[in-house]
Amino acid sequence: MAYIIGVDCGTSGTKTVLFDELGTVIASHTIEYPMYQPKNGYAEQDPSDWADAMINTIKAVMAKSGVNKADVKGIGISGQMHGLVMLDKNDEVLRKSIIWCDQRTAKEVDEMNQKLGEKKLIEITANPALTGWTAAKILWVKNNEPEIFEKCRHILLPKDYLRLILTGEYATEVSDASGMQLLDVANRCWSKEVCDTLGIDMSVLGKVYESCEITGGVTKSMADILGLCEGTIVVGGAGDNAAAAVGTGVVEDGKAFTTIGTSGVVFAHTSEISIDAKGRVHTCCAAVPNSWHVMGVTQGAGLSLKWFRDNFCNAEKETASLMGVDEYYLMDKQAETVQIGANRLLYLPYLMGERTPHLDPDARGVFFGLSAMHSKKDMLRAVLEGVSYSLRDCVEVFKEMNISVSDMMACGGGGTSPLWRSMLADLYNCPVKTVASKEGPALGVALLASVGAGIYSSVPEACGAVIKTDKTQEPIAENVPEYEKFYNLYTEIYPALKAQFKKLAQL
Ligand code: XUL
Repeated sequence: MAYIIGVDCGTSGTKTVLFDELGTVIASHTIEYPMYQPKNGYAEQDPSDWADAMINTIKAVMAKSGVNKADVKGIGISGQMHGLVMLDKNDEVLRKSIIWCDQRTAKEVDEMNQKLGEKKLIEITANPALTGWTAAKILWVKNNEPEIFEKCRHILLPKDYLRLILTGEYATEVSDASGMQLLDVANRCWSKEVCDTLGIDMSVLGKVYESCEITGGVTKSMADILGLCEGTIVVGGAGDNAAAAVGTGVVEDGKAFTTIGTSGVVFAHTSEISIDAKGRVHTCCAAVPNSWHVMGVTQGAGLSLKWFRDNFCNAEKETASLMGVDEYYLMDKQAETVQIGANRLLYLPYLMGERTPHLDPDARGVFFGLSAMHSKKDMLRAVLEGVSYSLRDCVEVFKEMNISVSDMMACGGGGTSPLWRSMLADLYNCPVKTVASKEGPALGVALLASVGAGIYSSVPEACGAVIKTDKTQEPIAENVPEYEKFYNLYTEIYPALKAQFKKLAQL
């Protein structure tokens, strides 16, 4: 039997899973690390935390599984997108990584629009200038930390920094590179025009591969540390969302998924490139050659629930640990006792600004309609519903783009919540399914590595052999109009507060 390793460098931690060639989990290990928020709207992580977590999780899965290292045929790496890793000429990390949810770059976004023009940017990079994407972060360092910019010789994304550690190669692949906003997304190569206009030297960027292509082999020194064979192949891998698509079988037209991790994403595969002229959803290269995906992103999905848990749910945390159950399970159970609409309480999940559909780094979270009769469980229910409304916003944009979704999967931490899945089924008014494997991105990149290793001949073939659907949540007919009433009101709240969010940011 052949084995494959999938590494997923997420925001809360890195998870490494060793799979057999049929996608069965043989061993899994996760190591968490902090996110630093030196100022409101800032978000950074230390690349050395990612590297340590990758090394220690790979060592752990090899030790736990007892699998013979010669049978490990490949490694796939997935990761949080957009994060900026800057290295000097000796490959030393020059500053903490400014990660995807950081919102400090409003001025740089204006600079990009001025220099390139909004239309041209969308034409080439398939997306409008975005505060969270890498190009704006590079310009921020250039404008604010010129001494660091001067020393920078290599720019990598989070998972591509891990590839460098594994293989010594400076490389990336099309799905994650799309989120740097320096890629010509239709032609799947760096855009000289964008790089030149923004003053970014193309030689600092890694070589671009397709996601299932081999980008290098594990070096001798890393192989010794990890307990793997020298030369074990490392494929391109994918940004976490493109990887989750492969891990849930979303590799054909009509298929889509919703994931609720720290951020929430609604993602649909498309074999023809399709771009929202208003830039409300992202268009990126898919991890499947010759295809693309569109995705809507809500910044504070699981993050909202985690924020609520950490600030208000100490009692639930203690009870959960005494009962030996997950604290989110208890929180779900409490929210289930509240009716749709949370007793007329609405929540806007804009804790870290918002992308789809508002593209507003200044937006912030709101509880709307708070009354003395509300209790914690109403607020909890409102948080779950508010995140679901923001995901529905994404589906509305897809409809305008004529992207039809006939098959919706749910994944990520939030996808394991039956309550959240049923909210989504009612709000999308379509069945929401889960896949048997809960490993999403790690499985996705392991499948890409199995294609690179020649175990399967294409990504759809690998998905067909491995991905099995599990539960299906049908929409509940009488809930659909109930949610619709609250969703309609939800869509009116942001426009009414837009100017005030801006004023708040300037205070
Ligand atoms: C996608 C995005 C997030 C990150 C973090 O554009 O910013 O989904 O990849 O998971």
